[in-house]
Amino acid sequence: MSRIYLDNAATSWPKPDGVYAAIDHAQRVLGAPAGRGAYYEANDASRVVEHARNAAANFINAPKSRNVAFTFNGTDSLSTAIFGLLKRGDHVVTTAVEHNSVLRPLNHLEASGLIEVTCVGCDDEGFVDADELIASIKPETRLLAVNHISNVTGSIQPVETLKERLAELENQRLVYLLDAAQSLGHIPVDIQKLGCDILASSGHKGLLGPLGTGLIYLSDRVVNSVEPLRFGGTGTEGSIEFQPEQMPDRFESGNLNVPGIAGVHAGIRFLESTEGLELRARRYVNATRLLQGILKIPGVEIHGAKEMDRRIGVFSFNIRDWDCHEVASILDANWAIQTRAGRHCAPLIHRALGTEAEHGTVRLSVGLFTTLAQTEMVLEAIAKLANQSAD
Ligand SMILES: Cc1ncc(COP(=O)(O)O)c(C=O)c1O
Repeated sequence: MSRIYLDNAATSWPKPDGVYAAIDHAQRVLGAPAGRGAYYEANDASRVVEHARNAAANFINAPKSRNVAFTFNGTDSLSTAIFGLLKRGDHVVTTAVEHNSVLRPLNHLEASGLIEVTCVGCDDEGFVDADELIASIKPETRLLAVNHISNVTGSIQPVETLKERLAELENQRLVYLLDAAQSLGHIPVDIQKLGCDILASSGHKGLLGPLGTGLIYLSDRVVNSVEPLRFGGTGTEGSIEFQPEQMPDRFESGNLNVPGIAGVHAGIRFLESTEGLELRARRYVNATRLLQGILKIPGVEIHGAKEMDRRIGVFSFNIRDWDCHEVASILDANWAIQTRAGRHCAPLIHRALGTEAEHGTVRLSVGLFTTLAQTEMVLEAIAKLANQSAD
């Protein structure tokens, strides 16, 4: 049985051929660090990174490419933003749909007595109310940390309304951090339209790069208020004993993951190619088919929005009162359908979804290379399972 990979929200697979080729080239042919040598391959490695930075900045419509720094994953980007920005006495507003990569740093700082966190709840489809977020902001609120698309429900949060409401607020201290780990590469992510100060994302999910890649965008307004997580050699200003102030060096200490960054660039190129655009359209069609099909299976509850225009193809479901881990194991054992079961590192949202008793949900996340035939097989398998009893 060949695997039906539906865990693309964790990391996308397979990658386009161009991504494997770019990584291979960086490993075998370049074999040199970026920004650290004057020989041909080292210069080329630096060019690879700068071209990737330009492509990533263009992809998110960042005003300048140097506002984008490469990180090692989405968690690294989020920790950079949260630990780098917050100081004793700060107040933070966040939401119940957040991933642990937001919740754990915030909880750690709050448990250490440094900050105070207000967590705004969500409705039973996993949507947060923009007005409720705004109402929770106080004069001393330093950070608003919001998820763009939930990795549990696939629900797209109302970021346009949020932007409008934020514009009406006169809080110069407030920094708006958007966790775009699940949105980048899935829906248009335009920094200038979103109006966020910091955007954090993985490079290995929707951007199709390899594991070990991520990126962070920081606006000029906030960049100097965010301390780096890592200090060290940047390959620039080697005679200075202090960390460079300017982006991107400020956040790129230590040798960069040149093969990974080359892979992210190839992933972005693929997303923008004719084939990539076609596959993105097909991913939407498959996701729609999956949603409509699952909604019709008796005994199966799908969480999150029931219409595609408010979500992406990341679906959480439960079959009656079956333990979600059991469902995922059977799907894998009987049909090689690879899903993810549990709380998906987002513990708070399950209270609103009512999925605590089932120990979370089964998550299917459609990828660029998921076919219609696979989608139909998944629907058949779920329908067969739903027809059986749990014991
Ligand atoms: C919403 C969200 N934020 C952050 C992360 C962390 O990203 P990474 O796995 O790249 O560290 C994830 C990963 O699943 C996620 O879904």
